[in-house]
Amino acid sequence: MKNVNLSDGIFKKSQEKGKEYLLYLDIDRLIAPCYESTSQKPRKPRYGGWESMGIAGHSIGHWLSAAATMYAVTGDEKLKDKLDYAVDELAIVQDYDPSGYVSGFPRACYDEVFTGEFRVDNFSLGGSWVPWYSLHKIFAGLIDAYQIAGNNKALDVVTKLSNWAYLGLSKLTDEQFQRMLVCEHGGMNEAMADMYLITGEEKYLVLAKRFCHQAILEPLANHVDDLEGKHANTQIPKVIGAAKLYDITGEQKYRDMAEFFWSQVTNYRSYVMGGNSIGEHFGPGNAEELGILTTETCNTYNMLKLTEYLFAWTHKASLMDYYEKGLYNHILASQDPDSGMKTYFVSTQPGHFKVYCSPDDSFWCCTGTGMENPARYTRNIYYRTEDDLYVNLFIASDITLEDKEIQLIQNTTFPESDSTELVFKEANGTTLNLHVRVPYWISGPVTATVNGVEVFSKIENGYLTINRKWTAGDRVQVGLPMQLHTYIAKDDHKKQAIMYGPVVLAGALGKENFPETDILADHQELNNHELIDVPVLVTNEQDINQWVKPVADKVLTFETKAVGQPGNVKVTLIPFYELHHQRYSLYWKIMNETEFSTFVDEEKQLQNRRRKITVDEVTPSEQQPEVDHDIQSHNSNSGYLNVVHKGWRDSRDEGYFSYKMSVQQDRPMYLLVTYYGSDARLHVDGKSYDRDFDILIDDQIIANQQLQANKPGELFDICYEIPTSVTKGKDKVEVKFTSKQGKAAGGVYGLRIIN
Ligand code: AHR
Ligand code: ZN
Repeated sequence: MKNVNLSDGIFKKSQEKGKEYLLYLDIDRLIAPCYESTSQKPRKPRYGGWESMGIAGHSIGHWLSAAATMYAVTGDEKLKDKLDYAVDELAIVQDYDPSGYVSGFPRACYDEVFTGEFRVDNFSLGGSWVPWYSLHKIFAGLIDAYQIAGNNKALDVVTKLSNWAYLGLSKLTDEQFQRMLVCEHGGMNEAMADMYLITGEEKYLVLAKRFCHQAILEPLANHVDDLEGKHANTQIPKVIGAAKLYDITGEQKYRDMAEFFWSQVTNYRSYVMGGNSIGEHFGPGNAEELGILTTETCNTYNMLKLTEYLFAWTHKASLMDYYEKGLYNHILASQDPDSGMKTYFVSTQPGHFKVYCSPDDSFWCCTGTGMENPARYTRNIYYRTEDDLYVNLFIASDITLEDKEIQLIQNTTFPESDSTELVFKEANGTTLNLHVRVPYWISGPVTATVNGVEVFSKIENGYLTINRKWTAGDRVQVGLPMQLHTYIAKDDHKKQAIMYGPVVLAGALGKENFPETDILADHQELNNHELIDVPVLVTNEQDINQWVKPVADKVLTFETKAVGQPGNVKVTLIPFYELHHQRYSLYWKIMNETEFSTFVDEEKQLQNRRRKITVDEVTPSEQQPEVDHDIQSHNSNSGYLNVVHKGWRDSRDEGYFSYKMSVQQDRPMYLLVTYYGSDARLHVDGKSYDRDFDILIDDQIIANQQLQANKPGELFDICYEIPTSVTKGKDKVEVKFTSKQGKAAGGVYGLRIIN
């Protein structure tokens, strides 16, 4: 990274915005939860969002990784000073705990874990919310501060922290360890593998392997895709760790896990912009279900990281095709170019819009990976082995190969232009095999000249190769013809997106009924904001170039003919990465006139009707909706039922689960609960329970419900009236499902308050 600089262009601008935000953030506020976790008074108050919740501390970790990287690529000393201060502060906090623990939440959860007898659920461990996930960010941040920014104290702090982890975890049997890994734990296997690489101490390698979650990784090694219903961002870092372990150990199973996972996710579980997941979870394979909570940004950050590992093994251009797709259309597109703020999810719901985090009160996971992204733009533009240089991305930049005394400059305005130029600014007759990626979207033969003379090269592994001795002034020109093309969704051939080369074009749909602001502390606040009607595109033309045309004098701007229905409207299309603060559509219904004459968009009508009456909604078993609705539970489990593609939650034996849900004070409200029609008895730990339970709203029983398997195989809804006396004068109520001794409550597959 240190040898590559960005030149002016879209990535450089975004990098600068990213740097501004890193400099804006106040270390004392980021470290505040760490002070408080050891009962010390912080120097300044915490930030908002998750930094004020039990998962706190992840943001200082992300900030360290981002600042170390940004410092490496920009050399801005202000960042280094801040980074040194942050590490000093973490060292001070660490000294308050002789065990070496340092984090943004109390140690008690780990003390419980280290006894071997501990509470665990997918997102909670020892009573704390994903503690290893959060702590992993501090591990990674300190490792980056040491490795990338050369801060030696960071190595001391992370060594003490690693030793604390090693000591505590050595008390666990393998079975207990794997049980612990049921709870999301970020990339702890990767962090421990890094510690091994840095220190050479075998014990960290042992720990890295123990941190491999077998229930997830072993099926992948056997090419079994059991990903449906799994929380996506929990799994990706586990696989990154496996990839690193392949590099260290050479054990084939680790590589199989990584390659199989990558291929399943990118081929069968990703959207047009390279992102994956809906409501943070993997859906069924080959589905591209559109929605507001799709494509969590962290996931693409992690998938790009994983892609780097795979590329190093095979040097295949197709890997970089994916990388480019995710980089332009998701990562770059997730940053507001004006405020520099990032998105959490990126909606694929036609007619919706991007929602960005606020600078001080939205420290979500994607805020953290979002801090890191702009610092990482110089990665993978080039890839170097001894005598080979791969040009993977067409981004204006330069690279220095010190040992070869070569400096190469890439001049390009790609994707605004369809070519790139590589100029050897320095070179003394040195041999270098130059490989230029021939992307999947290319619309004609790639052309290349060296000093004006055409080069003919075989294309291998997706690269055009020029082997020669280079001297200063040598100039390579590469033509990369681009055209409009359509992307067809995997689950419906009428559902399509429009692309130009690698760039996803979005319909710029304006600001009709647009919220006052889309930069919000609460990224979910506008989930139910009313949608607008999005036209269906109706044409008998097969060739997209016949009905979508470039707009004169406006780069990368296109307009459709009047094919938008109803109303014969034209739609303007611009790169998704440039579309901010207005409504958009990425996916369209595209069809011919015959298809349109029979087409009734029932799905959309249904959705709109549903949105208008839904006041609040929880998806049981999914962590964000549950946490956002302040889930409380006892003797409760959650899971996913593949046959109905939905998650559930239940409880048993004097157990319960409850959520805080919004109501509208002055209107009659109803609670709509979704159940599974084959449910009658719950079998768990060798015991069997009748599903017979009470539903309470603010401690008042509103119904008793029994499930008796009378709608086999299907989901069904029951609507309960909520007495107005219960909601009067309130914005929120607690909805609780309780089971008595020997009985079970649920499974509940969906929960809505409607009016
Ligand atoms: O649980 C921590 C993080 O929060 C997850 O990885 C992410 O998906 C979620 O939003
Ligand atoms: Zn995230």
